[in-house]
Amino acid sequence: MTTSITVNGKRHQVDSDTDTPLLYVLRNDLELNGAKYGCGLGQCGACTVHIDGKAVFSCLAPLGAIGERSVRTIEGLGSVDAPGVLQKAFQDEQAAQCGYCIAGMIMRAQTLLDKIPNPSDDEIRDHLQPNLCRCGTHARILRAVRRASDVMAGVAR
Ligand code: FES
Ligand code: FES
Repeated sequence: MTTSITVNGKRHQVDSDTDTPLLYVLRNDLELNGAKYGCGLGQCGACTVHIDGKAVFSCLAPLGAIGERSVRTIEGLGSVDAPGVLQKAFQDEQAAQCGYCIAGMIMRAQTLLDKIPNPSDDEIRDHLQPNLCRCGTHARILRAVRRASDVMAGVAR
């Protein structure tokens, strides 16, 4: 059955069962491989994307439930040649070790900065709580979000 979804501003026709997790559709059908499969159970955050601006676990979101809502993935924030502010801040702070959690971290952090452009460290920590990093680069991740916030405020480059 064909289902249409909008991802990063583009409409796609997808030929998959409606109960297929959005994560599989993104990776297997649309070749958007930024979101990662970690647990498949809503417990790690590696698969985090936005649906209508909210951070969701794409491993738990069935294709058929997306409807007209807009999906945004890490690929929608920027590219290797033209990274978005948050992506650049993660690079500058060398916040990735293995990198597996990073796309999900960035997507969740982006929803915080969209709402609170200058969050406190506690707000950043609280907001990123659902996303796990097995490498333990939390201090760098926090610094990266702080840096992105400062760049947006014009007090850092
Ligand atoms: Fe979705 Fe872990 S893969 S939360
Ligand atoms: Fe390896 Fe976070 S950098 S899991």
